[in-house]
Amino acid sequence: MISQQTIEHIQQVADIVEVVSDFVPLKRKGQNMMACCPFHNEKSPSFSVSPGKGIYKCFGCGKAGDSIRFVMDIESLSYIEAIRYLAAKYNIVIEEDRPVMDEGMQQAQHERESLMIALTWAKSFYQKRMLENEDGRLYGLSYFRERGFHDKTLAAFELGYAPDAWREFTDAALKAGFSLEILQKAGLTIVKEEGKMFDRFRGRVIFPIHNVTGKTIAFGARILKPSKDQPKYLNSPETEVYHKSKSLYGIFQAKNAIRNEDNCYLVEGYTDVISLNQAGIENVVASSGTSLTDEQIKLIARYTENITVLYDGDTAGIKASLRGIDMILEAGLNVRVVTFPEGQDPDSFVRKVGTPAFKEHIKKTGTDFITFKINLQLEEIGNDPIRKAGLIRDIVESIVKIPDPIKRAVLYKQCSTLLGVEETMLISEGNKHMLTQQKQPGRPLQTRDRPASGGGAPNYPDIPFLPPPDDLFMPPGEMPEYVALPPVKEEVRKFGAQEREVVRMLISYSTLELEAQYYVCNYLLDETQEVAFQDPLLDKVLQIFKIELAKGAIPGTDFFLKHPDGEVQRLAIDLTTERHELSPFWFEKHKIITPHEKDNLTDAAFKTVLRLKQELIKKMVYENMLLLAKASETGNIEEQTRCMQIHTELKAAEREIAGHLGNVITS
Ligand code: CTP
Ligand code: MN
Repeated sequence: MISQQTIEHIQQVADIVEVVSDFVPLKRKGQNMMACCPFHNEKSPSFSVSPGKGIYKCFGCGKAGDSIRFVMDIESLSYIEAIRYLAAKYNIVIEEDRPVMDEGMQQAQHERESLMIALTWAKSFYQKRMLENEDGRLYGLSYFRERGFHDKTLAAFELGYAPDAWREFTDAALKAGFSLEILQKAGLTIVKEEGKMFDRFRGRVIFPIHNVTGKTIAFGARILKPSKDQPKYLNSPETEVYHKSKSLYGIFQAKNAIRNEDNCYLVEGYTDVISLNQAGIENVVASSGTSLTDEQIKLIARYTENITVLYDGDTAGIKASLRGIDMILEAGLNVRVVTFPEGQDPDSFVRKVGTPAFKEHIKKTGTDFITFKINLQLEEIGNDPIRKAGLIRDIVESIVKIPDPIKRAVLYKQCSTLLGVEETMLISEGNKHMLTQQKQPGRPLQTRDRPASGGGAPNYPDIPFLPPPDDLFMPPGEMPEYVALPPVKEEVRKFGAQEREVVRMLISYSTLELEAQYYVCNYLLDETQEVAFQDPLLDKVLQIFKIELAKGAIPGTDFFLKHPDGEVQRLAIDLTTERHELSPFWFEKHKIITPHEKDNLTDAAFKTVLRLKQELIKKMVYENMLLLAKASETGNIEEQTRCMQIHTELKAAEREIAGHLGNVITS
């Protein structure tokens, strides 16, 4: 744990202009500095740095943060790693708070570090063994040469050779001072019950597996000649530092290219990654023969939302890719699929046809997953109606996994053409799935909130809320977004703008007093006490705020602008800059001058709360209408009457609020 003092010291010293200038040339423009954004491709600069506030923000792609965040983003580092980077840049000695770690944790940390050191040592051992010994060159180096790998490639992937001997590695490592226990825990040495020990990797070429920062965490080892009783690849076991399901082979070498290309190629094997990299296609990682996991997808999602799956032409490879594709969709990423001719994998194919033809192949044959899945199965199914029904169900199951409703709509349309089935039929099939699924992705509104009933600051009129009957809220299955009611989408999407306003005011003016000892934050929190915010991020900020408040200090704007949680930090920057300050174009573009709300804070706070309440009522009105529509469909007169009553009351409340806000309401 790095001490809070050190972090604050670094925040003070690490000047945003200096830090950013190491990576992009900045040009002064008024109070700010501008550049072309290093995080996305652009021709005219929309990346802005504010020396005064110590933050940057790109008006194109939305990236924003302080010096620490910038280093994290541009170098793909963790928070702690970024702190270390800046500490090194500014010669700041890092003080560590130890007490937070108990003894057990300290020991575990210590052990992980020891494992990493042993693994790095082993990696160098195998490398040297391949380059500097005769047998290494004869077996290891010549194997890689035969596969066409250049020296530069061998170095970039730190490839090596494990000698064909029982204990050469272990003996050397023990001699170098590593304990047998560490070697065993690192998965390098196998110890039998009788105490006999031997090297795990023998007579194989070595592929070190790296984490995102380039540290060796495990090895894959390939046999030199095909053998019946030996597996082709032997891999490190799971260890304290290597979790197979969380690692991706090649991520360290690929991460920058993935971000620049905004796409990640996913292949199966070590050699596919290496060959493509050598061919100049660097945005490639491998799942290493296992089926893709959620954690691996999340790792890719740090750098891009687009994955292209490049799998072997054989059926096993394709079947394996289907499962992975569904998981990628579920994670909300976009996926395309490329296959190769029977018997070819990306490695052999790129060597056969060369880079330009390979890229062309990806461009030409790459299909979205729907087309891929449909084509794959339609061939087999032919005209069998029962199997076709099965296929439709299968496709729809994939579609409903996509969190974004707009993407889903596009896919339904496309799928309807490809399969020759009515779109409405697909949608209703999809809705059925949504209703029965336990985990419902992209569920729009979970209406659990009970609107607040005022009770806040004195002097402000208290707008009463009707305690809504329980069943006013929609049963979980009935999601307006999926039933064919046209006005819904607009309503649902607009909802949340006022939550954002409340949080914006909270972050911007929390510490200003409305009256003696009664601060903006007190008012806003009191008034929204019973409102469950729909947006999880806004809700998180609210919770963070409350925790800090409970600790006895009101968190100010700076607290959020420097918050270690990147999501929270970015939101804070967005909220405090979106109207004016950072963008010199704002006035140009919108022809508005923001009246200084700070001058009349009481009024601004009051209206913000009212607008939130107005929004909540609108939603209740809408939901009540749905109930009413259903009641009239089923001919339930009693229910209809009840809904009408509620409608009247809601409308009255709505009008009262509108009166205060000075806007007009239609009934
Ligand atoms: N694999 C494994 N253990 C095996 C076989 C395969 O861990 N016994 C993993 C490896 O990560 C391998 C990937 O599955 O890279 C794909 O397997 P395969 O296609 O058989 O290997 P290639 O990568 O094509 O290797 P090569 O070209 O050297 O045959
Ligand atoms: Mn291969």
